[in-house]
Amino acid sequence: MYCTRKVQEDLIWVGADDRRLVCFEGVFACPRGMSYNSYLLLDEKTVLFDTADKAVYQQFFENVDSALSGRALDYLVVHHMEPDHAATLEGLVLRHPEVTIVCNAKIKTMLSQFFPGNWDERVQLVKEGDTLSTGRHELHFVMAPMVHWPEVMMSYDSTDGILFSADAFGTFGALNGRLFADETDFFAEHLDEARRYYANIVGKYGPQVQAVLKKAAALEIKTVCPLHGFVWRKDFGRFVEKYQLWSSYQPEEKSVLLAYASVYGHTENAANILAARLAEKGVTVRMYDTSVTPADQIVAEAFRCGTLVFAATTYNNGVFVKMEDLLHDLVAHNLQNRRIALIENGSWAPVSGKLMRELLGGLKNCEILEQCLTLKSALQPEQLEQLDALAAAIAG
Ligand SMILES: Cc1cc2nc3c(=O)[nH]c(=O)nc-3n(C[C@H](O)[C@H](O)[C@H](O)COP(=O)(O)O)c2cc1C
Ligand SMILES: [Fe+2]
Ligand SMILES: [Fe+2]
Repeated sequence: MYCTRKVQEDLIWVGADDRRLVCFEGVFACPRGMSYNSYLLLDEKTVLFDTADKAVYQQFFENVDSALSGRALDYLVVHHMEPDHAATLEGLVLRHPEVTIVCNAKIKTMLSQFFPGNWDERVQLVKEGDTLSTGRHELHFVMAPMVHWPEVMMSYDSTDGILFSADAFGTFGALNGRLFADETDFFAEHLDEARRYYANIVGKYGPQVQAVLKKAAALEIKTVCPLHGFVWRKDFGRFVEKYQLWSSYQPEEKSVLLAYASVYGHTENAANILAARLAEKGVTVRMYDTSVTPADQIVAEAFRCGTLVFAATTYNNGVFVKMEDLLHDLVAHNLQNRRIALIENGSWAPVSGKLMRELLGGLKNCEILEQCLTLKSALQPEQLEQLDALAAAIAG
């Protein structure tokens, strides 16, 4: 049975939720599921905006059929060829052989890479600034390279002020019957998952997101329809403020991320004492054990906090593996503009501090505090003063 919702009278959400997804893109846990959004415009012409992941193909096709209620499908606008949106594209075309695919040249190239064959007859190519009239609505195409892949574009419906924003402004999590962000307490319930989604999916491409935000600022936007998560019709400005911070690598808070890697608990003990000293100074500390919390969650917290503290044991002359993975991930996501402090541990030749400093040296515009607290197996009583000094430097 179909399960659809109206964005407005002539625009139907025909996407679907997946709550059995083990991990999105093979790495990101999705304990609250994932939504794959697709939208059908019922104008003089019918237009489907993107397809859906193969995991939900049955529900998706039922939804499209019901929303079309017997009408032919005139256009499929493809914004992004990543299979979480395009895996069912070929199936859709088999069901609707009449459809014309509207996309840019890069999308067309990927189309024939993912689905070998000749697509020339079916494709209508568009580029930046091109328009398509579908009757009452007029669609404008906006290129958005690297928000998330190089071929990505967005569509803006100037008639009703609707932005189809592809992966931008999405979030992890199933919709669970709700469609609009204002049907939830978004900033209390979903912001953490939206941040985790942003940081890990597009965090690396801040300048490209900034370029799109600039283009969007020139448009009168009333509704935003992303490919994952909720549709925005209220309070979108509040979400854009977060995107401005994230994409310019500015922290949201003065808080401290304290991530530690400890095999037997001694490094953890020093981290706990540091956290207590910071809390006494009124500093908010967000603390994680890298052996327990997946790197993508800690990366998201690093996008949130102004100061980052990493504490790690030396491990076979290297940095404990979970911390090493996390730091590689952070560098890969291009994080910038942070203060960083380090704690190392080693029972015979501690080198994790030096190695963490080298790994983090790749981050732009970050200040790594000179003082690195060195533990030899465990924090010694005479080192408490050093720890206090480190807390003071971090809080300062
Ligand atoms: C498998 C393993 C390898 C280690 N390799 C080193 C090393 O190469 N150099 C060193 O100084 N300490 C090494 N250590 C000691 C740790 O760095 C650390 O001092 C010890 O695990 C105590 O801290 P913790 O309780 O936080 O784990 C190693 C420990 C383990 C378990
Ligand atoms: Fe994507
Ligand atoms: Fe996606």
